[in-house]
Amino acid sequence: MLKVKPVSAERLPELLRRMPKAELHIHIEGSLEPELMFALAQRNGMATAYPDVESLRRAYVFDDLQSFLDIYHAGTLVLRTEQDFYDMTRAYLVRAASDNVLHAEIFFDTQTHTGHGLSTEVVINGLHRACVDAKSELGISASLILCFLRHLSEQEAFEALEQALPLHDKLVGVGLASSEKGHPPEKFARVFARARELGFRLVAHAGEEGQPAYIWSALDVLKVERIDHGVQAVKDPLLMARLAKERIPLTVCPLSNLKLRVFPALAEHNLKHLLEAGIVATVNSDDPAYFGGYINQNFTQTFAALGLTAQHAYKLAHNSFEASFIDEKRKRQYIERLNASFETFN
Ligand code: HPA
Ligand code: ZN
Repeated sequence: MLKVKPVSAERLPELLRRMPKAELHIHIEGSLEPELMFALAQRNGMATAYPDVESLRRAYVFDDLQSFLDIYHAGTLVLRTEQDFYDMTRAYLVRAASDNVLHAEIFFDTQTHTGHGLSTEVVINGLHRACVDAKSELGISASLILCFLRHLSEQEAFEALEQALPLHDKLVGVGLASSEKGHPPEKFARVFARARELGFRLVAHAGEEGQPAYIWSALDVLKVERIDHGVQAVKDPLLMARLAKERIPLTVCPLSNLKLRVFPALAEHNLKHLLEAGIVATVNSDDPAYFGGYINQNFTQTFAALGLTAQHAYKLAHNSFEASFIDEKRKRQYIERLNASFETFN
């Protein structure tokens, strides 16, 4: 691990912006900015619920996860063609590359879109083509993680998995998203067991709003390799010890937690505590078009609110590569670039 030189509070945002990083928790539908949403609605000849971009943005005030998911779902209605999925993903990857994201693992779901009459192929082919083009044109690598919607049934998750199988080589893993409370990981035990047999990498949202028991069952029943959010783990010392000992990464999303009122203020976020407990925490944007910031804004605002240092920055970026699903050789290459960026920063 690199010995990190101290950086002044004034220079820290610049360090955070420049540092190479991976983003591991981004729902691509949550990157759909109002401007693009209106453009797609127009292209597809659809009416929108709000007259303009400003009034739509003003509606982005949430009480909790469910109040967000309702608006988020309405936003996905404009996605109708493979090109729409391509354009949305391209816009995110351009933005991420400008934040010095070297690698992104992108969540999406098919159930929302098949529910709107689209095929699984339209969704995955649009997303995948944008990832392939971004690699050659922007130098950013990206892979795709299909999330099951936990408010729907086990049977529907099995159908989503089945429909995605012909496109298996365009996906790296499966995850679990949507309304957490009342939908414990165990509900999807058999789907995850099947996905595991098929060679998918496994992640799940757990402990965003839900109790630590959901994190235990995501690990022990679903056998996931990473926990998305996981911030409620601090309520359970035994779980904290396990996460640290087994180096199970948490993909933390501070601005999401703020906007969905998981914490009353950014200054009360537990990211610093998680890091100091030895947990492999990472910083991510979740749904940046809705929560007021892409990954670098998550870094700069959280660092300012919690008084985090250059040492924490290095740790978080290092964790992001360590926790990613890229091979060991590429991990080493990315970490070398990370080290170089810290060594040459002045
Ligand atoms: N939690 C659960 N489901 C989601 C989220 C989230 O933060 N964002 C998009 N789908
Ligand atoms: Zn999420």
